Amino acid sequence: MAKQFDRRQVLSAGVAGVAIVGLAACSDSDSDETTEQGLTNTTPTSMPTNKVVAKTTDVPVGSVFKFNDPNTGIPAYILQPAAGTFIAYSSKCTHQGCIVEAYPDASGFSCACHGAKYDSVTGAPDEVTSKTLTATPLAKISLTIAGDQISVA
Ligand code: FES
Repeated sequence: MAKQFDRRQVLSAGVAGVAIVGLAACSDSDSDETTEQGLTNTTPTSMPTNKVVAKTTDVPVGSVFKFNDPNTGIPAYILQPAAGTFIAYSSKCTHQGCIVEAYPDASGFSCACHGAKYDSVTGAPDEVTSKTLTATPLAKISLTIAGDQISVA
């Protein structure tokens, strides 16, 4: 004999089914959240970390310090042209990509491949001959100084 359901049982089952479907629609396996405006908030899985490349004592005022840029794997230079002012440049020549060398007195950089020379403070090509080879300065590397630690992002 078939079981008979009263009206209240049928209504309860219907409401429960709608609630389950509604919950499933709200669940999301991603960590992203969607706002009422339809915008997606994405939480980064990790924050960029700074990589220590030198100590401030490695770069006395008026000197140059060579290190390997952890982001590119190629050599780079940190200079301290004035007390407390640290700047860094990639050693990649902007003419055709050779590695430039820093002058020992930190007054500039030169490229042995075709002779380009760069200013140590601005990173720009600093002679007429150099400017005919390239107009682009050496790539500047952003530094963070925390205590005696010099790091790159
Ligand atoms: S690659 Fe440096 S001057 Fe040509």
